[in-house]
Amino acid sequence: MSQILDIAGHFQLGSKAISAERYGCGHINDTFRLETESGKNYILQRINTSIFRDAEALMENVVSVTDFLKKKIISAGGDPERETLSVVPTIQGDSMYREGEECWRVYTFIEGAVTLQTCESQEQFYASASAFGHFQKLLADFPAGSLHESIPDFHNTKLRYGAFEAAVAADVCKRAASVAEEIAFVRSRKEFASVLVDMQESGELPLRVTHNDTKLNNVLFDGESGLPLAVVDLDTVMPGLSINDFGDSIRFGATHAAEDEQDLDKVNFDIDLFECYTKGFLGECGALMTDMEKKMLPVGAMMMTFECGMRFLTDYLSGDTYFKIHREGHNLDRCRTQFKLVSDMEKARDRMDEIVKKYC
Ligand SMILES: Nc1ncnc2c1ncn2[C@@H]1O[C@H](COP(=O)(O)OP(=O)(O)O)[C@@H](O)[C@H]1O
Ligand SMILES: [Mg+2]
Repeated sequence: MSQILDIAGHFQLGSKAISAERYGCGHINDTFRLETESGKNYILQRINTSIFRDAEALMENVVSVTDFLKKKIISAGGDPERETLSVVPTIQGDSMYREGEECWRVYTFIEGAVTLQTCESQEQFYASASAFGHFQKLLADFPAGSLHESIPDFHNTKLRYGAFEAAVAADVCKRAASVAEEIAFVRSRKEFASVLVDMQESGELPLRVTHNDTKLNNVLFDGESGLPLAVVDLDTVMPGLSINDFGDSIRFGATHAAEDEQDLDKVNFDIDLFECYTKGFLGECGALMTDMEKKMLPVGAMMMTFECGMRFLTDYLSGDTYFKIHREGHNLDRCRTQFKLVSDMEKARDRMDEIVKKYC
């Protein structure tokens, strides 16, 4: 850990870092908790630069969003040190420290908070919906277009459809014939794939600040009250569509099956969980969303699930080069769970629309 303490020495910590330990269960960055002589704690992270190629741009996003959030939190009478991340500058005054290929950053440690790894109750799912809805609400008047796209075309489903067709045409592993049914599933939704991208381009849906990793373990809960405290992990903050953040939460949260479940009878879209998330999300930011955004929430859920399944299928056809696999056909299994959920959502569309109306 001495290398970690050396790195810590490049930041304005107020006093010397005396210990460092690995912290949390994140899968992207390397996270350490630092303790200093004064007793103040910090989070030190090595940014995963193989995923985030432009760490400087990423940190510009994090700084501008957290500065904005702090002002909003103060004007609402909240605690800006606990309700959002606080970037600690380097001795030189930069937002990160670069050593060769490695990029490091420090946040103050939010004390008295707990992180939940998996959603064990409807209440927890509701709480995460409130947290991400609140995040949307606070950032509703942030100039989203000024942010960098930390992963370009992340939810450009139209482009991803093009990548899928290219993978079918190349068929490098000669797998296309064996997945004719899945390929047909995607092709019959070709027009659907463009719907949200087109609506954003035409201005029918506004550009918003999106989080793009709306998992439960990216929300810190207050250890005493149990209420959501802060949204963390702002690496994938980008301009995008609010309904895609909502949709991705529904994709992985409104079902009881694992993403790679092989028994599709166990993979079902749970409309009660959809209702629970919709209630929590709209309860926070419903008043700030446009009527069109609210109307399209169910489409956001279907689009994110469809896009994800299509990406798994594209990777399966391309020889599993992007998503790590742990068994033969893993990406195909993942693709099938997503398509099962898309089919369920298509059947439940009227009910989803009714639920959204109920909470508008
Ligand atoms: N400022 C902070 N204060 C306290 N805990 C934090 C802070 N930032 C992150 N964490 C904890 O560290 C975990 C990993 O951090 P995160 O930024 O989400 O990394 P990853 O991108 O690898 O998921 C989080 O789930 C959270 O539990
Ligand atoms: Mg995380």
